[in-house]
Amino acid sequence: MMPPTKCILPLLSVLLLSASGTTSISILDNFIKCLTINAEIYIPFSNFYTPNNSSFLSILESSAQNLRYLVPSMPKPEFIFTPLNESHVQAAVICARDLRIHLRIRSRGHDYEGLSYVSQIETPFFLLDLAKLRSIEVDINSKTAWVQAGATIGELYYRISEKSNIHGFAAGLCPSVGIGGHVTGGGYGTMMRKYGLAADNVVDARIVDARGRILDREAMGEDLFWAIRGGGGGSFGIILAWKVKLVPVPATVTVFTVSKTLEQGATKILYKWQQVADKLDEDLFIRVIIKLANAGPKGKRTVTTSYNALFLGDSERLLQVMHMWFPELGLTRNDCIETSWIRSVLYIADFQNNTEPEILLEAEFLFKNYFKAKSDFVKEPIPESVLEGLWKMLLEEDNPVMIWNPYGGMMSKISEYEIPFPHRKGNIFKIQYLTLWKDGDRKNATKHNGWIRRLYDYMAPYASIFPRAAYVNYRDLDLGLNKKFNTSYTEASAWGIKYFKDNFNRLVRVKIKVDPDNIFRHEQSIPPVPFRLEDTSHTTA
Ligand SMILES: Cc1cc2nc3c(=O)[nH]c(=O)nc-3n(C[C@H](O)[C@H](O)[C@H](O)COP(=O)(O)OP(=O)(O)OC[C@H]3O[C@@H](n4cnc5c(N)ncnc54)[C@H](O)[C@@H]3O)c2cc1C
Ligand SMILES: *[C@@H]1O[C@H](CO)[C@@H](O)[C@H](O)[C@H]1NC(C)=O
Ligand SMILES: *[C@@H]1O[C@H](CO)[C@@H](O)[C@H](O)[C@H]1NC(C)=O
Ligand SMILES: *[C@@H]1O[C@H](CO)[C@@H](O)[C@H](O)[C@H]1NC(C)=O
Ligand SMILES: *[C@@H]1O[C@H](CO)[C@@H](O)[C@H](O)[C@H]1NC(C)=O
Ligand SMILES: *[C@@H]1O[C@H](CO)[C@@H](O)[C@H](O)[C@H]1NC(C)=O
Ligand SMILES: *[C@@H]1O[C@H](CO)[C@@H](O)[C@H](O)[C@H]1NC(C)=O
Repeated sequence: MMPPTKCILPLLSVLLLSASGTTSISILDNFIKCLTINAEIYIPFSNFYTPNNSSFLSILESSAQNLRYLVPSMPKPEFIFTPLNESHVQAAVICARDLRIHLRIRSRGHDYEGLSYVSQIETPFFLLDLAKLRSIEVDINSKTAWVQAGATIGELYYRISEKSNIHGFAAGLCPSVGIGGHVTGGGYGTMMRKYGLAADNVVDARIVDARGRILDREAMGEDLFWAIRGGGGGSFGIILAWKVKLVPVPATVTVFTVSKTLEQGATKILYKWQQVADKLDEDLFIRVIIKLANAGPKGKRTVTTSYNALFLGDSERLLQVMHMWFPELGLTRNDCIETSWIRSVLYIADFQNNTEPEILLEAEFLFKNYFKAKSDFVKEPIPESVLEGLWKMLLEEDNPVMIWNPYGGMMSKISEYEIPFPHRKGNIFKIQYLTLWKDGDRKNATKHNGWIRRLYDYMAPYASIFPRAAYVNYRDLDLGLNKKFNTSYTEASAWGIKYFKDNFNRLVRVKIKVDPDNIFRHEQSIPPVPFRLEDTSHTTA
């Protein structure tokens, strides 16, 4: 347990007295007092934003990706604090704890349910925005890099490519994702079949723990170091920086995108993809992006399936691999684009052909939509008749997207228990379901949420069971929520076992050890509650 802090009582009573009125300033005043007195650090007022500051909303909105969580009815932080160095983060934890103010941690705001900047279970809260902690040190000799939490994966890719064209990093496809949150949930991308996840390629980390201490791997110990690599963000501490292992990439890689509509035989080809996607050469990653499109000039709506791929090799060898495994797609030399690894990143992220890699240093290419998403893992090919039903459902929705991501290769070689991310051998692919819309109208949100839940029900028989697994980086609050108080093991295990399978239990044990007072909490944080015998309704379905 924590040693008692120096001045918790007087500060807390001031806080409680003012808690019902206009509170931003007084909560912030108390916070700043605490920083000076308890944490013994002076931080200029200009690092804090209250709703009074003209830039409050623009800072809040800056990296937030899901517009659903920015509508006026969503709770707003009392203030935003943007630390400029590691001591600021330590001080923020000490004062959040001493003043009992709830905090949310944000690296780059891509959380699907806005958990990094909105608390729907507890107000007041403040936002600790790490966007200014973004230094990157790449060391080609040791093939490693230290990356601060607020850096984007695109910045990391760029900084590596600046020093070497034969090194890369195995992480996400969307360059604006924050390395801070990304690695906490796993982090997959085009090289996952060859090298695994971002979290599989982390060798050290610096975190601020629940007591405000900075710990590296050696100081935190292997249990906590295990938990932070895939156990979900915002549960165990604040990641200041990750030390990652670079991976070798060839000087020339090949990318392609081949699309097939229903009229062009999409269903049969997709059925074949399911039989080979996880088995073919590990150098080849072919994902399928499924959307609606207009078939021909008359504009009848149809479904299009786009095979979007990276091959770690040249086009000649790629054509051989495709000929052997997946001739049905009909890939030709003309479809193949040979390029450098860093330009393949731009291609996969869908930048225009002649965009220069420097774009990766700007965080402006944001996704920003109203959206709701879900995920599934698939272990047996989905029959063609079921695909036909799926197309019908897609055609009922305004702007649906599915992304099918192949597994196999390195993903099957790493044990389920190596890190908390458990979705390994036996998975052919993962499905991400998305629906996007364009306005904050609540009725529209209800309609789209209803549609995606029906789709999820339709897919239940074809997805993994016991548990029906889900990807924590595609956070889905439909799977269940923590209560403000008294979340039981049984309640939390509903979503915990979907995200982490048996690793959930070890995550709970680590949580009890490192954060028994639950300083780091949110709607789906790991609760510090042990399994009790009376929790008998525990189910893994
Ligand atoms: C457009 C888009 C594309 C995506 N593409 C991919 C992809 O290709 N591959 C993939 O695997 N995922 C992808 N994701 C999902 C993404 O990996 C997760 O949303 C990830 O958690 C985002 O990290 P962040 O720092 O940007 O998010 P944030 O919203 O800042 O954080 C996410 C979660 O982690 C916590 N957290 C944030 N920073 C820290 C920290 N420093 N220490 C402790 N906890 C922290 C937050 O509180 C929150 O709970 C994508 C998401 C979007 C919106
Ligand atoms: C906003 O500023 C005004 C004056 O500048 C002050 O009276 C008020 O208390 C402030 N309110 C908040 C919520 O910060
Ligand atoms: C962080 O910034 C503060 C000023 O706000 C300064 O006093 C402190 O020395 C800095 N700490 C580090 C580790 O740079
Ligand atoms: C926010 O407003 C306060 C006073 O209203 C001011 O002192 C502070 O510097 C402002 N912060 C920023 C980041 O502008
Ligand atoms: C992109 O442009 C280069 C020349 O700048 C060209 O060789 C290449 O084929 C183009 N790729 C695509 C996909 O258009
Ligand atoms: C919903 O979105 C559509 C456009 O997709 C828009 O025309 C409509 O006004 C929105 N609101 C409602 C309640 O449907
Ligand atoms: C639930 O939480 C409340 C508030 O903290 C507490 O008073 C109560 O004893 C708790 N109940 C159980 C069953 O733990």
